[in-house]
This record gives sequence, C-alpha cells and structure tokens, in this order.
Amino acid sequence: MFGFWKTWKALEARGIMGINRRNADYVLKYNKRSLYPIVDDKIITKERAIAAGIHVPQMYGVISTEKEIDKLDEIIGGRNDFVIKPAQGAGGDGILVIADRFEGRYRTVSGKIISHEEIEHQISSILTGLYSLGGHRDRALIEYRVVPDQIFKSISYEGVPDIRIIVLMGYPVMAMLRLPTRQSGGKANLHQGAIGVGVDLATGLTLRGTWLNNIITKHPDTTNAVDGVQLPNWDGFMKLAAGCFELCGLGYIGVDMVLDQEKGPLILELNARPGLNIQIANDCGLTLRTHAVEARLEELKAAGVTETPEERVKFVQEMFGHVTAVEG
Ligand SMILES: Nc1ncnc2c1ncn2[C@@H]1O[C@H](COP(=O)(O)OP(=O)(O)O)[C@@H](O)[C@H]1O
Ligand SMILES: [Mg+2]
Repeated sequence: MFGFWKTWKALEARGIMGINRRNADYVLKYNKRSLYPIVDDKIITKERAIAAGIHVPQMYGVISTEKEIDKLDEIIGGRNDFVIKPAQGAGGDGILVIADRFEGRYRTVSGKIISHEEIEHQISSILTGLYSLGGHRDRALIEYRVVPDQIFKSISYEGVPDIRIIVLMGYPVMAMLRLPTRQSGGKANLHQGAIGVGVDLATGLTLRGTWLNNIITKHPDTTNAVDGVQLPNWDGFMKLAAGCFELCGLGYIGVDMVLDQEKGPLILELNARPGLNIQIANDCGLTLRTHAVEARLEELKAAGVTETPEERVKFVQEMFGHVTAVEG
C-alpha cells in the first residue's frame, strides 16, 4: 500500500485527477442525467450502437422475468459458447463467460464446469438486482462470446482483454489495455485482478502496467513483457472511441472496446464514471490532458467551429502522443 501512495503522490504533481474532481468537474458537468440510461443499461447501449452502425457483440436474447428463464435453451440454440451478463452490471460482477459444453454441462472460460440449473440460478440473481447499480431489478443479456485476436495470446491469460479509452467531448484523452489474469477469472476489470497497461495515443504501443496498484512490466501468469506491444488497428480504435460522443451525448465517458478474432473492433460498453487508475498505467495525470482539450474547445467555440471525430483524433495524437515508457 505504501508503494501505491508513493506513486499516487508523485502523480499528484503531474495533474492527477482525484475522485472529487472527476465527479464535480467532469461527470456532473459533462454528463446529462437524462442520458445515463444509454450507458448504464447495456441493452440500450447496444441498440444505440447498432442504430449508429457501430459494431457490438451480437445479442442472442434478453431475459426479463423469472418465467422467461424457460426460454434460455431456445436463446442459446445449438451454440457452445455465449456470455450472460446483467444489463445494468458493473465491474465485471455477475458475468458468466461460457466457452464450451461438457457432458451435458457448460465450461466457463476459466475452466469451471457448471450445470444448466446453476446458470438459471445466476440469471435469477441477475433479475433480482444482485449485480445492478442501486440494486434495482435488472434484465439478463445473452450475447456472442468474443474470441480475442491472436495478438493477445502471449500477454493475456484466458478471457478477453479490453481497450479502455477516456473520451472528453469526443476527444480521446487517455487509453489503457486491460489484460485478464488467472485471478480475474477471464474478465478484464481491474477490481477483479486484471492488469491495466497504458497505451500511447499516437501509436498504439503499450507502456508499462499496473496490477493491484503495483507497477509491473511482465504479465504475472505468462511472464511475457506487457510493454512495447503494438496494438493492431489503433487509429480504428481511436476513431471508434471518439465517435461514441455522437452516439450517447455524454461528454465524459470511458469507452470499452475489444478486438474479436473474426469481427474486428467491437464496442463492449460505455461508462459514465470511468475509473482513475488509468493514470497510474500511463504515468500521467488526466487533468493535464482534459485541461488541454477544454482549452481547445474554448478556442473552437470562439471561432464558431466544431471538429469531426477524425480531426479530434488527430488533435489528441499530436498533443498527447509519442510518449515513451518509463523505467520502473
Ligand atoms: N461478449 C463477451 N465475450 C467475452 N468476454 C466478455 C464479453 N463481455 C464481457 N466480457 C468480459 O467481461 C469483462 C466485463 O464486461 P463488461 O461488458 O465491460 O461489463 P462490466 O460493466 O461489468 O465491466 C470484459 O472486460 C471482458 O473481459
Ligand atoms: Mg467493463
């Protein structure tokens, strides 16, 4: 813990954003309350994305009531792999990633064998609101299981790594690659024990990593280096993230994307209160960058112009890109 505080203190001098500033100056200021459902409910996010022509993992079905749990078999069809998640969940809780069938049962991505009844029970828990924000009744969403691109084989353990980009008024300000570990059970959420690795906005090259608040350079399970990895299709991810502003209208969001082996970049979800650990992985404070974007917005406003997603990406890449990993 001491090491963590030392890191945090050192970052403070470099424009670190704390939780109070994030809430007051960004979440409250840029995110209109009435728009929250678009990002807080993954089913609504999906519908919006599809309408905007943005690719997402295909939805196989939705279960909204206890009675509808009977439809599970029909929704799964003959498929061997699929994902069940709470529509209003967060932090990776309540998500079941099924990778295969086994002797009349199912095998999760981390190798656990579970029965059909256990899945039904899980869905029932989702419906009662066990995993939803505020404990409200929820819906269960059954969707396509993403198969990660081969590039992640050496630096990831099971599950699907995701790419998180923080976007302010359509300007990507900071990026992080999140890698599942043995501990995180195939999920890429930091609180589950996944690793966060900073990413250079201009090049898509990975920087150093952070795991359970420690700075690391190797993956704990595969022992391969997590820095210096070139993420494929980087400008594509940047444009996708920038375009999410037009998609949801929220000004301060975390965009979570994955790279599917066959389907390419997909949007997994949007977050209206994105976490702050991304600053440790990037060894850089968010406010340094958000202030630069806010200054840009002022400038454009005075000139009476706005920028396209492509122009916004170009701006942030020139402004914040080409950083190199620090020793540590
Ligand atoms: N369709 C999917 N296929 C494979 N893995 C998934 C899928 N959806 C989610 N996951 C895994 O679970 C993690 C959390 O999922 P996400 O949809 O972002 O929900 P949460 O709001 O709980 O973070 C993802 O980062 C990914 O590792
Ligand atoms: Mg997520």
